[in-house]
Amino acid sequence: MTIQIDKNTLEKYDVCGPRYTSYPTAPQWSSDVNANVYAARLKAFGQNDKTLSLYIHIPFCEQLCYFCACNKVIRASEAKVGDEFLNHLFKEMDMVAVHIGQRKLIRQLHLGGGTPTYLSESQLQKLFTKVHSHFDIDFQEEIAIEIDPRTVSQNKLKTLRDLGFNRLSMGVQDFDAKVQDDINRIQPFEQVRQVHQWCKDLKFISVNFDLIYGLPYQTRETFAKTVDLVIRLRPDRIALYSFAYVPWLSKPQNKFNLEAIPVHDEKLDIFIQSRDHLLAHGYEAIAMDHFALTSDDMAKAFNQGKLHRNFMGYTLKPADEYIGLGPSAIGFLENTYIQNVKVLPQYYEQMSKGQLPVERGKVLSADDQIRQWVINRLMCRFEIDKKEFLTKFGFAFEAYFTPEGGHIHDCIEDGLISENPRRIRVTDLGKIFIRNVCMGFDWYLRQNNGHQRFSRTV
Ligand SMILES: C[S@@+](CC[C@H](N)C(=O)[O-])C[C@H]1O[C@@H](n2cnc3c(N)ncnc32)[C@H](O)[C@@H]1O
Ligand code: SF4
Repeated sequence: MTIQIDKNTLEKYDVCGPRYTSYPTAPQWSSDVNANVYAARLKAFGQNDKTLSLYIHIPFCEQLCYFCACNKVIRASEAKVGDEFLNHLFKEMDMVAVHIGQRKLIRQLHLGGGTPTYLSESQLQKLFTKVHSHFDIDFQEEIAIEIDPRTVSQNKLKTLRDLGFNRLSMGVQDFDAKVQDDINRIQPFEQVRQVHQWCKDLKFISVNFDLIYGLPYQTRETFAKTVDLVIRLRPDRIALYSFAYVPWLSKPQNKFNLEAIPVHDEKLDIFIQSRDHLLAHGYEAIAMDHFALTSDDMAKAFNQGKLHRNFMGYTLKPADEYIGLGPSAIGFLENTYIQNVKVLPQYYEQMSKGQLPVERGKVLSADDQIRQWVINRLMCRFEIDKKEFLTKFGFAFEAYFTPEGGHIHDCIEDGLISENPRRIRVTDLGKIFIRNVCMGFDWYLRQNNGHQRFSRTV
């Protein structure tokens, strides 16, 4: 059933707010978390038998997409660029492994970017061999990579499958020619169809398409055609991201004609229409902005209340701890977020000096951990079980969140959540505004009256 949203609700909730890939969010992180803190966390991790989720950031892309808010470096395809990068990345991996001091089991491996398939087949093989030299890998779990369909060949996909990658995600964004031209990303349907067919032939367990709604020159009609074409290919999963317009962070977004960017009700309509279309064609809406075929393990995990989320996105089975390698990569070890330096020359410089390339992070207080859990539950399960909260933290939910009573009341009044003595449940309307529901539990946002620079929640 389509969701009706009245003008007042839209006006009230179309504000700037975090996506909560972490809590506390990045503006709260500081240089207090430095190389020494990271070294101590790695050492502690080495003294227990916890498992590992490893994220490796490969920053290169061959061409700039003007909408992109990822940490990337544009370089023409050249073997020496990848070789130089791997030399430095391997130094970081060696350093991290020495601090840990034992072989850990990787239960989730994720290569992200930028575009990891910027690396050649032999470079990808070299990278995999290096990971294997320090860590064990559980190939039954999620071994995932982000690819760009414009630059990946059938052979490269085969190499990835042979190495053990079982899930992949590709940027599709939008098939409309005018939109593609404006965002500087020409990618015909036939190209995506071909790459997707190769992925199916190679029996990747799950293939995800990234789409973005809210891009310049998109209309309800043009994006309906894009969604139609996507449905024709039937990828296992679809991430339908809201365009994060953050020109103060991503300067090339300043090229866009502001008049051409759909906002407010038009943008929301594009999302709701796409959601309805996907639901009518066998996809399930799972958590925030993700859709999956009922047969996909992510849909199953969502329905069983077993979906998790971290800065790599939604995940099936969380490892105990996270380590990020490469520029801007984020880890989470022993209740501490750790982020590497973002700028590539700085990253290289730190590696040449033999220093862990930490830029900033955040040690979570007891209150941070409680709010992190609540926000995660809302994002992944759309509900909070108050008894589970009491058992886990030793506080009654209502007593702990007395200052948030007004927010909870407002969300109920506006139809975003329902509440009974046992649970808080997010309604279908609340799922659309889930970032707003979470924002009320964000202690830092309240202290700053929300005066931080995030993308809009709608
Ligand atoms: C690292 S890229 C995916 C892999 C590859 N680089 C590609 O583009 O095909 C990650 C995804 O982030 C999303 N993304 C990037 N910038 C965004 C923005 N400003 N707003 C919303 N989504 C964005 C895009 O959907 C993109 O596919
Ligand atoms: S969307 Fe992907 S390919 Fe385009 S610039 Fe961003 S990371 Fe690179």
